[in-house]
Amino acid sequence: MKNVLVVGGGGREHAIIMKLAESKQVGKLYCTPGNGGISKYAECFDVAATDIDGVVELAKKLAPDMVVVAPDDPLVMGMADALQAEGFKVFGPKKDAAIIEGSKVFSKNLMKKYGIPTAGYEVFTDAEKAVEYLKSENSYPAVIKADGLALGKGVIIAENEDDAIKAVHEMIDDKKFGESSARIVIEEYLTGPEVSVLSFTDGKTIVPMISSMDHKRAFDGDKGLNTGGMGTVSPNPYYTENVAAECMEKIFIPTMNAMNSEGRTFEGCLYFGLMITPKGPKVIEYNCRFGDPETQVVLPMLDGDLYEIFQAVCDHTLSEMKISWKTGSCACVVMASGGYPEKYEKGLEISGVDGNGQIDGCQVFHAGTKLAGGKFVTNGGRVLGVTATGLSLNGALEKAYAGVAKISWKDVHYRKDIGKRALDALNSDPLDLHYKDDMEDYIEENGVYLRQ
Ligand code: AMP
Ligand code: GLY
Repeated sequence: MKNVLVVGGGGREHAIIMKLAESKQVGKLYCTPGNGGISKYAECFDVAATDIDGVVELAKKLAPDMVVVAPDDPLVMGMADALQAEGFKVFGPKKDAAIIEGSKVFSKNLMKKYGIPTAGYEVFTDAEKAVEYLKSENSYPAVIKADGLALGKGVIIAENEDDAIKAVHEMIDDKKFGESSARIVIEEYLTGPEVSVLSFTDGKTIVPMISSMDHKRAFDGDKGLNTGGMGTVSPNPYYTENVAAECMEKIFIPTMNAMNSEGRTFEGCLYFGLMITPKGPKVIEYNCRFGDPETQVVLPMLDGDLYEIFQAVCDHTLSEMKISWKTGSCACVVMASGGYPEKYEKGLEISGVDGNGQIDGCQVFHAGTKLAGGKFVTNGGRVLGVTATGLSLNGALEKAYAGVAKISWKDVHYRKDIGKRALDALNSDPLDLHYKDDMEDYIEENGVYLRQ
C-alpha cells in the first residue's frame, strides 16, 4: 500500500484526500496542516503549507510514497523542487513552471510569444506611465492586475478613469499587494461566460478534466466583492464539444509546448481560466494547481483512481492512462462565515453535521473548520463546501441545497443561486451551445449563445 502526504488545508485538499481514499493502492493519508474535517480521514500535522523546510522535515519523518503539493504559494516558492531534491515523488510543478501562475507578466508574455489567445495588454512598473496609457486608451472597464500572487484579490475591473487611476496608485505606489503589485498588467476587458478547465499534464501529454463553472462574487446575482469562489457546478454547459476542441488545439497543447520550449516543463495540474468570447475562447488566467472550489465538483465526477493518475504524471506515462468521467452533474455550495470576504468571526459551533463533519446525501468538504472539544467550529472565511452529484444539474443542486439547509451556525452566509446561470443556459439551448463571431450583441444582452 502507498502512503501519501497532501500539503494544504482547504476544501480542495479535502476533495483530493477523499478521492485518494477511494484508491485501492492508497494506505495511509497524511495532511499538513489539514483542518477539522480532513482530520477524520487523514492524519494531520501542525506544519504550515508555506513552510518549505518544515514540510521537507515532516516528509523525511513520514517517508510517504508521494507528496501532493496542492496550494499555489508553496509551489511558486519551490516546495516541489525542495522535496524532489530529497528524493520524494511529488505531484505538483517545480518553481520554474509554477511561475505560470506566480507572475501574470510571465504568463501574458508567454501567450503573446506563442500566439495563445488572451486579452491584449501592457506591463507597467511606473504609475505615471500607466496613467498616461489609461488616458490615451480611454477604454472602460479597464482591467488592472497585480503581477504576483495576491490571494485572488489582485484583479481590479475599473469602471471609469478615476477608479482605474486609484487602482494603479494603490498597487504600484502604495504597494497594496507588496512586491506582487510592483509590476502591473493593464489588459483589454473581455466579455462572455467563464469556464474553468483543470488538466493533468506530464509535459508530454495533456488531459483536460471535466469542465466547471465557478461563482466568484460574494452575493446572489454576481453582486458584491470577489471571493475565492462561492460555489461551482460541473460540467459547464458553455464548454461545448466545439469549444473543447478549439481549446485543445489553440490553448491547451500550445501552452504545454510553450512551457517545454521555455525549458519550464509543467508537470502536475494546470488550470485554465477561460472566457468564451464572441471571438472564441481566450485565457483569462493560468493556475499552477487544482482550483478551489472547482476541485470539489471535478474530482467527485472522476471515474477512476486518482492515485494512479498522479503516479502517471510523476512517471511521465500519462499517455498510457485512460481517464473517464461520470455522466450527470455535480454541484458545490460554499457555506461561508458572515462578513466574508471581509471581516468575520471564527470559532462558531457548526450544527447539523455528524461526527465526521458529514451529512447524508452529500459530501461535505471542509475548507475552514477545526475541532474544539470534539465539535466542529468555524475557522476561516469559506467554511464548508456542500457537494452533491445527480443525473441532472437540477438534481445535483437540489441535493446540495437540501444538505445546506440541514447545517447552520451563527451568521452563516451562502449564495442561493449557485448553478442558476448554468441552468438558464441549458434551458435556452440544451445540446449545442456555440458561439459565432456576429453574436456579440445577443451575448451582451443574454449572456448565452444560441444555436444558429
Ligand atoms: P483572475 O484572478 O485573473 O482570474 O481574475 C479574476 C476575475 O476577473 C476573472 O474571473 C474574471 O471574471 C475577471 N477578469 C479578469 N481578466 C479579465 C478581462 N481581461 N476581461 C474581463 N474580465 C476579466
Ligand atoms: N476558483 C478559482 C481558483 O482556484 O483560483
